[in-house]
Formats: sequence, structure tokens, C-alpha cells
Amino acid sequence: MKHSLVSIANLDKQKINYLLSMAEEFEQHPNRKILDGRVVATLFFEPSTRTRLSFETAANRLGARVIGFTDPKVTSSSKGETLKDTIMMVSNYADVIVMRHFLEGAALYASEVSPVPVVNAGDGANQHPSQTMLDLYSIYKTQGTLEGLHITLVGDLKYGRTVHSLIMAMRHFNPTFHFIAPRELAMPEEYKIYCREHGINFEENEEFDEDVIAQADILYMTRVQRERFTDLMEYERVKDVYILKRQMLAKAKDNLRILHPLPRVNEIAYDVDEDPHAYYFQQAQNGLYAREAIICDCLGITLDDVKADQTILG
Ligand code: CP
Repeated sequence: MKHSLVSIANLDKQKINYLLSMAEEFEQHPNRKILDGRVVATLFFEPSTRTRLSFETAANRLGARVIGFTDPKVTSSSKGETLKDTIMMVSNYADVIVMRHFLEGAALYASEVSPVPVVNAGDGANQHPSQTMLDLYSIYKTQGTLEGLHITLVGDLKYGRTVHSLIMAMRHFNPTFHFIAPRELAMPEEYKIYCREHGINFEENEEFDEDVIAQADILYMTRVQRERFTDLMEYERVKDVYILKRQMLAKAKDNLRILHPLPRVNEIAYDVDEDPHAYYFQQAQNGLYAREAIICDCLGITLDDVKADQTILG
């Protein structure tokens, strides 16, 4: 059945595992014509590199065509067209809409008015469910399990939609979270309440050093997001508060993997890229397989359909 993907909170454990299996299948054979004749629209009201390009690559590799925009200033929304009217128009042309918007709740609203499925590619500081699916896939691939892991989230935990979505998804897998943030960017109370309500262990700290890293299976670094600050003086105060340097990995567990949704600004030193614990570029590559799975699932194409598909290319 066709459906939208607005929030990771709507996916149960079975559905998450199912989408991970589908991503695995697409990693085996990313090039197919299973979406031949379909049109995928990518509407990006906010800048993006990875999310847009990996969704568009996913659509292209599966044989769909892509329409869309990367800058709302070149669309009629700059003339005052409402989001509803934009969605209604695009749904005349496309089978599925992938949308990033600066307003929290925009994806939910779009999904309510749209006759075709809407995939939330990030709505303000709220949710980024496709990022979470690729994060889960990356964690599963590197750890061999999603169960019982120590996950350390570092940086902008206030505005970081990727960490908010990750917490919600991990509720099924008995994690222990370590929240490392300056006071100004601490994890919002609503997510701590969510953890308590769902029996998720967490601790909070402002210190970030090699002893903190030594406990982690996953070290999830985040960028301090300049675009979310109304007070730029505050941004200047906190922007470089945590910088991961290679020597800080001296006591890291062998299985530790460093994730980052990217883009990075200054929070991971470049020498970390050469360290075997670094996984952020492979993580971005996993986005292709996770997004192939998401597009198909939203269009009602099942894992059995994918496995039975005879259009594999090369
Ligand atoms: N991770 C992520 O959302 O990156 P982009 O902003 O480049 O899409």
C-alpha cells in the first residue's frame, strides 16, 4: 500500500528491520528498472547535498525520472503560492514527493494534503527519518546488531533533527545514550521525557574526552547549525566547543565507529578521516540503499517484489 514517511516514530521494530533488509537487497543490486515509468519529485526548500543527491541517485538507479527544485526562490512560492498549492500541483506530475522544509511539521502537513506519498527529507529541527534509516543501516552493518549499544551523541542536540529521530528509532533496541552538549545546545526536555517514557537509558554530560569515547560503540558527531540560531553571538560562543581529534581515539573500542550526518564544519579534524574508526563517508553511501528502499516502500513495492524483479542491471 502507498504511504508517506513523515516521522520515524511511526515505524515499529518489524518495519524498521524490514526496511533494513530491503536496503541490504539494494546494496547487493542497486541498479534496476523497478521504477521504470515513475516520476520522483524532490522539493528542497532548504539546502542539501547528500539527502537530495542520494534520493535522486536512488530514483535514477531504479529507472525513475526526477523533477524538482533546489531553491524555492526559483519557484512560484516566491510569488506567494502556498505549500498546499505547491504540493497539489506537484502531485499532478509525480508519483512520490521528497520534501525538505525549514518549518517543523511541514512534512506532516504536506502528507495530509497530498494525493501521493510524501517523504520527509528533514523538517526544521524536528525529524529526518530517511537519515535515521541510513544511520540504523550503518550501525547494523558495523556492529552486526542494533541491540544493547552505547551511543554517544555529541554537539548540537537541541536543533539536531538527526539525533532526535535516532533516539526515537532506537527505542526498540535497548540502547544506552550519552548526550554530550553545551548547556545552550542540550537535548530538549521533550526528548528526555520520550526516553523516560520508553525506558531508554541516558546520561548527560558537557565533557568530551577520550574517557567518554572509550565507552562508546557509536560516536555520533553533529554540526552546530548556524542557520538555526537567532542570536549569532551565541553561535560564535558554541560553534567550536567540541572538536574530535585523532589522538582522542587512543582508548576507543575496536568496534567503535564514528558517524556524522554531514556536512561537517569543524567538529571532526581531518586526520580522523584516516582512522579505521571513521565511517561517515560510508554512512553517506549507505544513504543510497536506504533511500532506494524508502522510495519503493512508499510506492507500495515490497521486498518480495524487489527480490522477484528481473530488471537488475550489471
Ligand atoms: N545529512 C544531511 O541531511 O545532509 P544534507 O543536508 O547535505 O542533505
